[in-house]
Amino acid sequence: MKVLLTEDQLRDGIQRMANEIREHYAGRPLTIVGVLIGSVVLLADLIRRLDIPLRVEIIQARSYRGTRPGPLALNLDMLGEIRGREVLLVDDIFDTGHTLSELIPELDDQGPLSIRTAVLLRKQGQATVPFQPNFVGFDIPNLFVVGFGLDYRDMYRNLPYVAALEAGEITEEEGR
Ligand code: IMP
Ligand code: MG
Repeated sequence: MKVLLTEDQLRDGIQRMANEIREHYAGRPLTIVGVLIGSVVLLADLIRRLDIPLRVEIIQARSYRGTRPGPLALNLDMLGEIRGREVLLVDDIFDTGHTLSELIPELDDQGPLSIRTAVLLRKQGQATVPFQPNFVGFDIPNLFVVGFGLDYRDMYRNLPYVAALEAGEITEEEGR
């Protein structure tokens, strides 16, 4: 495993994101919608750096099987009221962009005032959708990364840093 982002770098990047978000919303109440499971670590750090009126909601999206994307399963059962609210959708990583591009219309159906997106990481050159996240912590190369919420086969989410898996650490698989 090769460390890409240290704890110090992550702390600084999240503080910078929080500053940008605070400035953007300029005191208007915000509803943060975290995408489980990958966003939990970012979510916990980010909300504690946002000293603005804030609600937190969660939804679940799941697509990866090992290191390969599979069909996207969404679960919005836990989502509370977002009608008329300014929504900031928070995810761990923007790779192809499919997850956020499928989530945005689902949330939009519920009548929020606005929807923006924030991600900790963005993989360079991988987007296949015609939009980019509004707030980005770090741009990273096209590597499979784990830690700080991100998993490989449900493991490594607890690492306090972000690391790229190396060839010997990945067992390519069909499904799981
Ligand atoms: P997208 O839909 O292709 O943008 O991918 C976004 C989702 O795929 C993220 O929410 C992650 O759950 C997962 N994902 C993409 N790349 C990685 C990675 O390098 N490590 C772990 N999960 C990833
Ligand atoms: Mg995810």
